[in-house]
Amino acid sequence: MREITGHTRIYGILADPIHHVKAPQLMNPVFAAQGFDGVMVPVHVRPEDLGTVLAGLRAQQNFGGFVATVPHKQAMVAHCDELTDAARAIGAVNIVQRLPDGRLRGGMLDGDGFVAGLRSHGIEPAGRSAYLAGAGGAASAIAWALAVAGVSRLTVWNRTASKARELLERVTQARPGLETAVGTADPSGHDLVVNATSLGLREDDPLPFDAARLQPGQTVAEIIMQPEETALLKTAKARGCRIQYGKPMLACQIELMAAFMGAPIVPRGA
Ligand code: ATR
Repeated sequence: MREITGHTRIYGILADPIHHVKAPQLMNPVFAAQGFDGVMVPVHVRPEDLGTVLAGLRAQQNFGGFVATVPHKQAMVAHCDELTDAARAIGAVNIVQRLPDGRLRGGMLDGDGFVAGLRSHGIEPAGRSAYLAGAGGAASAIAWALAVAGVSRLTVWNRTASKARELLERVTQARPGLETAVGTADPSGHDLVVNATSLGLREDDPLPFDAARLQPGQTVAEIIMQPEETALLKTAKARGCRIQYGKPMLACQIELMAAFMGAPIVPRGA
């Protein structure tokens, strides 16, 4: 193991619960591989203590920044001194850089990680029409990143249609003039089909949309990491679609997160 010294830059992941977090196991090898003297540690923070912990981190001179995850993503917005356009529009922060003067700069890279994951498997969203199921936090981040990545059209289907409409209104800030629509449960006719609902986490969940209408030639992407092959992906495979698992979204986001926090890491493909 690398030696931690007084020169080592400290990074964190703030979460509650903390035991399941994967970011340190993914980030520390990236730091090591690129010869950067940094370390990421898990920081267990209860929601009621977030402000207290942040006051401490602002004052910690060798602290570079942190990943924010459940349940802190929305609450972090109000604690940041600067926000990226994506974080402001989505209303959630999952990455924070501690600036040298102690101010906190918040960003949201979930969607960028998703797009980087697609690209790492040779799937380019630019110029393709996208169908997105879901309108919650994850869906908002993905919709924003797909719009920035240059999809030709974005259709959002959600159980609660009003949330799909609101999401599309926010996303058009990223790409004014982008062709958008509130969809139905029928995903046919779109190049890229994405499940960003929480359906599929549990074995007895129904499918998030009418998967019987999927056609060969479509790409179907999940963001659920566990189980790796959800019932949706099994159905999509059986119907001749290309499938994209959920794991690359996090794996491809790690280097983007390191770079956002100011670590001298060059993301793949940059
Ligand atoms: P996350 O942060 O993972 O995106 P979220 O913000 O709670 O979680 O969003 C969950 C998404 O899954 C929403 O789009 C939700 O639909 P609603 O907006 O109608 O609630 C969707 N979802 C969750 N359970 C669902 C179910 N049983 N049927 C259909 N959609 C469901």
